Amino acid sequence: MFDKDPETNFRTVSPSDILTYQDEFLAIADDIPGEYWTLQNFLIDLPAKWDLSFALWQNDLPIGYAILSKKSEDQVHLHHFMIDRDHRAKGWGTRMITEMSDRAEAAGATLLTLKVEKSNASALRFYSRNGFSFKAEERSFIILSTSFDSTT
Ligand SMILES: CC(C)(COP(=O)(O)OP(=O)(O)OC[C@H]1O[C@@H](n2cnc3c(N)ncnc32)[C@H](O)[C@@H]1OP(=O)(O)O)[C@@H](O)C(=O)NCCC(=O)NCCS
Repeated sequence: MFDKDPETNFRTVSPSDILTYQDEFLAIADDIPGEYWTLQNFLIDLPAKWDLSFALWQNDLPIGYAILSKKSEDQVHLHHFMIDRDHRAKGWGTRMITEMSDRAEAAGATLLTLKVEKSNASALRFYSRNGFSFKAEERSFIILSTSFDSTT
């Protein structure tokens, strides 16, 4: 999958990666209005977080991340998903959704959920194209989910 760009790959993130590359991790979302994640949000410990979460690395620096944890036996939740502005709309997001689904399925989940601002039209379009559908509304957010259960 990465033949054309061997220096770009996915790798599980650890708390020590986040501490070492904290400036890079925090800078990835610095053009996003309303972005509020601090180092504490990255580092908070949650079930299976350090098995499920991964970053997109280029030349050993993070250029995107997907922070995930297990909400229940069946459900993995995507807490934060960002790609650096210079690397958006090149297909990496779509490949990261596949990686998330593979990781969630390997962890025994049948459902991957996320919350997106109702006003984030491009993200809503992106998720819908990548197999997510409406689950619920919560204030200014829409909750989306995709299922790995072949019977649904
Ligand atoms: C949402 C996000 C993670 C998606 O990642 P991405 O790498 O941009 O996603 P993709 O490239 O796979 O697809 C996104 C767009 O690029 C287009 N695209 C996909 N592959 C492409 C390629 N090889 N070349 C050009 N365009 C491409 C898609 O058609 C899509 O267009 P559209 O959504 O505007 O209609 C990323 O755009 C991002 O970080 N956005 C800002 C933060 C954000 O909104 N996060 C989600 C919060 S819930």
